[in-house]
Amino acid sequence: MQKEIIVASSLCVRFNNQTVLDDVSFKVHEGEVFALLGGNGAGKSTTLKTFLGTVLPVSGNASILDMSVTDEIDSIRRKVAYLPESVTLYGHLSGIENIEYFLSLAQITCSTKAIEEALKRVALQENAWHRAMSNYSKGMRQKVAIALALLRNAPVLFLDEPTSGLDPNAIDEFNQLIATLAAEGTTVFMVTHDVYGACQIAHRIGLLDNGKIVGMFERGESSHIDTESVHSAFSARNKR
Ligand SMILES: Nc1ncnc2c1ncn2[C@@H]1O[C@H](COP(=O)(O)OP(=O)(O)O)[C@@H](O)[C@H]1O
Ligand SMILES: [Mg+2]
Repeated sequence: MQKEIIVASSLCVRFNNQTVLDDVSFKVHEGEVFALLGGNGAGKSTTLKTFLGTVLPVSGNASILDMSVTDEIDSIRRKVAYLPESVTLYGHLSGIENIEYFLSLAQITCSTKAIEEALKRVALQENAWHRAMSNYSKGMRQKVAIALALLRNAPVLFLDEPTSGLDPNAIDEFNQLIATLAAEGTTVFMVTHDVYGACQIAHRIGLLDNGKIVGMFERGESSHIDTESVHSAFSARNKR
């Protein structure tokens, strides 16, 4: 049986008097890429934030590696790497310096060689390693953030709209990297409004509409999730 890594059980979240998540449940297994797909305001980022402990559910539970966010959030944060919608690292520092700095905050020491190997794995061009990150593109900043996740040995990766603002080549490269990490056992949870991108990369897609899971799609042995069927379910929900 596949190990359940990320579990949402009947999550309900309210902001002021608005119900933003309504009875949201799903499971993500080890090495799986799960995409939560939905339109603007569906509650995707809120779902992700309940796993990081920055949004508290009014009922239900979110857990990672059998640890509940309500009582073991510090242990969870050590296991999770999070790429927010826009990765903000220090612009005046280089990619390598940013990694060194954030590793030191996490009290992890890494050799320069290990850092360089991580940057090679994420395919960040070598002539950028020592340049200030203020001149990096979004794709390059994401690579640094993923290299950092690799060096932290984070078994769980959370991504918020990771491909928005990337050019098609950067998207292909990013998808390839995520697929490789998942094949090696990293569990990936991403939220996106991009139907096509989700179908390209995800093993499973949960469709979120107005705070509710309204559909679940799964890829076959050797085929991607069918873009047409996800697209029609998505647009039927978002046309009203
Ligand atoms: N901190 C907050 N306070 C009040 N309302 C919020 C807050 N964060 C999100 N919301 C509302 O919750 C709903 C879902 O937001 P969000 O999870 O960011 O959607 P998505 O990521 O799917 O676009 C939206 O209506 C948004 O306005
Ligand atoms: Mg969002």
